[in-house]
Amino acid sequence: MAEFTLPKNSKVTKGKHFPAPAGAKNVRSFKIYRWNPDDAENPRTDTYDVDMDTCGPMVLDALIKIKNEVDPTLTFRRSCREGICGSCAMNIDGGNTLACTKGIDECGKKEVPIYPLPHMPVVKDLVPDLTQFYAQYASIKPWLRSQSAPPASERLQSKEDRAKLDGLYECILCACCSTSCPSYWWNGDRYLGPAVLLQAYRWIIDSRDEDTGVRLDDLEDPFKLYRCHTIMNCTRTCPKGLNPAKAIGEIKQLMLQRRGA
Ligand code: SF4
Ligand code: SF4
Ligand code: FES
Repeated sequence: MAEFTLPKNSKVTKGKHFPAPAGAKNVRSFKIYRWNPDDAENPRTDTYDVDMDTCGPMVLDALIKIKNEVDPTLTFRRSCREGICGSCAMNIDGGNTLACTKGIDECGKKEVPIYPLPHMPVVKDLVPDLTQFYAQYASIKPWLRSQSAPPASERLQSKEDRAKLDGLYECILCACCSTSCPSYWWNGDRYLGPAVLLQAYRWIIDSRDEDTGVRLDDLEDPFKLYRCHTIMNCTRTCPKGLNPAKAIGEIKQLMLQRRGA
């Protein structure tokens, strides 16, 4: 008979509580997912009470403060601190976003829950394993491909053609969209997901690229592209305000056009 219970070691247990320093008056709590591959323990959530009078305004400020002053074992990725590198993507207060651009004030829950990006293997604590995501990105060959001889200086583009890249080139590959997409959760091994498809479209409509037909051929596959069911989670969650669902729709349109439909 099929077993529908979770494996024992996947259950998240209640962890430690780290109170705020004595005398703190303006306190906010963060409930943070913890898992260490080096011990045999189940994942747990630790709760940290942070004195907001000595903390910056963003969720990343709180995480850095906790790591520096309370618990150096807390593990997360970050780099630019200004929404450009995509490293600090995680699930905060129920949604995928960037810790460095998410204001603590914007979080509705009293105890702000912070988890790694959903449905990805976890390396440690808030760090997801993005190996497959990056391999999928590499699979679309995300660079300008041409057969014609290179011009003396540079490949020019009209203002109008350049404008077609707006809303696409800004993608920072944070993976918030792909890890919020139910189709990607269930078929992430074969469906490319919204982030990679947005990037694929970015090259398909670049007037300087000469491999459009091959790029479309590569996506003509029951799984790579057509697992998108327009659920729109991707567009709702993108912290850069981009619209991957629209980009996917445009690729599907181009597929239809070239079939003469
Ligand atoms: S489309 Fe948005 S959410 Fe998706 S990877 Fe790019 S920046 Fe991140
Ligand atoms: S619109 Fe497509 S890519 Fe975006 S969340 Fe829905 S199924 Fe996933
Ligand atoms: S630290 Fe670079 S996007 Fe947040």
